[in-house]
Amino acid sequence: MKLSIRPATTADLPAMMALEKHAATAAHWSAEQYEALFRASDPARVALIMQEVASFQGFVIARVVGEEWEIENIAIAGPARRRGLGARLLGELLDLARAQGATAILLEVRESNHAARALYEKWAFLESGRRPRYYEDPHEDAILYRLGFV
Ligand SMILES: CC(C)(COP(=O)(O)OP(=O)(O)OC[C@H]1O[C@@H](n2cnc3c(N)ncnc32)[C@H](O)[C@@H]1OP(=O)(O)O)[C@@H](O)C(=O)NCCC(=O)NCCS
Repeated sequence: MKLSIRPATTADLPAMMALEKHAATAAHWSAEQYEALFRASDPARVALIMQEVASFQGFVIARVVGEEWEIENIAIAGPARRRGLGARLLGELLDLARAQGATAILLEVRESNHAARALYEKWAFLESGRRPRYYEDPHEDAILYRLGFV
C-alpha cells in the first residue's frame, strides 16, 4: 500500500480528533487546541499526517520553540500499529526538524507508555529527566526525552 506523509490541513481535524479519541495514551486536546494549530501563533507548530491511499493512519504534532522542537503528540490508528508507521512518521518529523535547523527535539511521555518510549528510544532519544506526578487521571510521572542533532 502506498503511504504518504504531508502537512495537516484544517480538513484533517475531524479525523485527527477521532483518531486521538481512540488512542487512550495519546495527549488529549480540545477542539480549540486543534483549531489553534492553523492560526498564526507563537510558537509555531508543525503537524504531519500519515495516509495510506485515502485512509488516515496517524499524525504527529510538534511545537517549534526556536531551535528546539517539542513533540506534543503522536498517534497511529489502532489497527495500523506495529507495522512501522509510527517509526516512519517520527523519522519524517526528525528529518524536517533537522532540515529547518533544529538543534534538538524534546518530549515528555507517561512513564507507563512503553510502546511510545520504545519508539522514541528506537530513534535514539535519551532520557533527560523526570517530572514527578506530572500527569493526572491517573497521576503518573512524566519521563523527559531529548534527541540532540549537534
Ligand atoms: C506509540 C505509537 C505512536 C507507536 O506507533 P506504531 O506505528 O505502532 O510503532 P511502530 O510499529 O513504528 O514501532 C516502532 C518501534 O516502537 C516500539 N513499539 C511500538 N509499539 C510497541 C508496543 N506496543 N510495545 C513495545 N514496543 C513497541 C518498538 O520498538 C517498535 O520497533 P519494532 O517493531 O522494530 O520492535 C502507537 O502505539 C500509538 O499511537 N499509541 C497511542 C498514542 C500514544 O501513546 N502516543 C504517545 C504519546 S507521548
